[in-house]
Amino acid sequence: MNKSISGFSKLSKSQKIDWIVNTYFSNTNNAKQVIKQYWNSDEKLQQLHDEFIENTITNYYLPLGVAPNFLINNTLYTIPMAIEESSVVAAASKAAKFWMDRGGFKTEVISTTKIGQVHFLFQGDFKVLHAFFETIKDKFLTDAKSITQNMEKRGGGILDIELRNKTEDLQNYYQLHVKFETLDAMGANFINSCLEQFAKTLKAEALNYEAFTEKEKHIEVVMSILSNYVPDCVVRAEVSCKVDDLTEKNINGKAFAEKFVQAVKIAEIEPYRAVTHNKGIMNGIDAVVLATGNDFRAIEAGVHAYAAKNGSYSSLSHAKIEDDVFTFWMEIPLALGTVGGLTGLHPLVKLALEMLNNPSAKELMQIVAVAGLAQNFAALRSLTTTGIQQGHMKMHLMNILNQFEATDAEKATLTKHFEKHTVSHSAVVSAIENLRSNA
Ligand code: HMG
Repeated sequence: MNKSISGFSKLSKSQKIDWIVNTYFSNTNNAKQVIKQYWNSDEKLQQLHDEFIENTITNYYLPLGVAPNFLINNTLYTIPMAIEESSVVAAASKAAKFWMDRGGFKTEVISTTKIGQVHFLFQGDFKVLHAFFETIKDKFLTDAKSITQNMEKRGGGILDIELRNKTEDLQNYYQLHVKFETLDAMGANFINSCLEQFAKTLKAEALNYEAFTEKEKHIEVVMSILSNYVPDCVVRAEVSCKVDDLTEKNINGKAFAEKFVQAVKIAEIEPYRAVTHNKGIMNGIDAVVLATGNDFRAIEAGVHAYAAKNGSYSSLSHAKIEDDVFTFWMEIPLALGTVGGLTGLHPLVKLALEMLNNPSAKELMQIVAVAGLAQNFAALRSLTTTGIQQGHMKMHLMNILNQFEATDAEKATLTKHFEKHTVSHSAVVSAIENLRSNA
């Protein structure tokens, strides 16, 4: 069977499905049924989802959960989270509740600058190029006026354009390194449109610049694109309380704080640990980023680059004990938007944003950072006390029961049973087998 096809994109949705099921599945009826069972009966809603991407055949569901009791700068939030992994929402909720009783989370947006670059090749004298750049700097701005005027009216726009000489690293390679303020928009389209205009201006003006030789006049633009590395679009989130206030029934506050700080220090100096530590942070961050219709790939790429900014991959969060006060904090780059993209289109994204009181991008940065810090706190708390498996497996119980197609009655019996027993895959399997053999 030929598994390649030309003109697939031009087929109708049902023709695409027919081709897929006939090409890749032996049980075509079953495959078709699985695909169709996720279609929405509301045709308009289904069409909206179909048109988010290309070659759509069905919807891929992720659960949308909520984590209540987040006290952030004295305001209470319930945070929406879209994620497939069990125990993440429970962990966030538990950490939120814990810190709600201890003053809550404090946050601050440190900066909101985003970066875009025009990457180009120039064969000639840098001093002449620099003189040329100075003469056309204003022209960049005037030529881009039709793109920037609305953003400027709202208080944003282009902050600075810099010529960077990168020829030490790559022959003939220069950049226009541009700083932007995009306010409530993530800004990708705005930035890329500005950059593509700058590239046109650069090439056109070079052709007319008399001080250039014939060779120098022909600047080659390689590409114009925003950067997802945003080390100047940073938010800080923090929790803090007296060490004694960390004390709970089985936990001594001082001993817990010391072990917790030690765990963070390990993640600061050991990349193998730092990656997992930061993965725990991203459990919270990605879930809120996704629920609010933002681009989690961009966030992931930017955050991990930031975690390696000092030359070695390290923990994003930090902790200390000073004068018997425990402080746990994180500074993290988050280029988020609350307008544009999916934010005005996806009904669940609109719902999630409304649940958060329709935040500005700056407010959303703070909420997302808190979700990350809370998640990290919950994971470290488990790791340094009970171990991660106890809580994780407790939450994973339902998934294991579903794997074994447990009935509602079996689920009820076994959930009760595991309130008093440790959940592990093998323990659940033998409990199901016992239950079924005694039935
Ligand atoms: P627990 O103490 O057994 O929970 O914790 P509880 O039953 O006593 O309930 C206390 C609170 O926890 C609840 O308060 C909820 O806020 C929350 P209440 O609502 O009753 O007033 N909670 C729940 N929320 C929703 N649904 C539930 C639920 N159960 C409790 N079913 C818990 C259980 C899982 C929360 C705890 O053990 C925990 O926080 N564990 C950490 C789990 C975790 O970090 N999961 C992430 C996946 S593991 C991973 O990928 C990252 C990692 O590798 C990162 C790293 O290494 O750093 C660990």
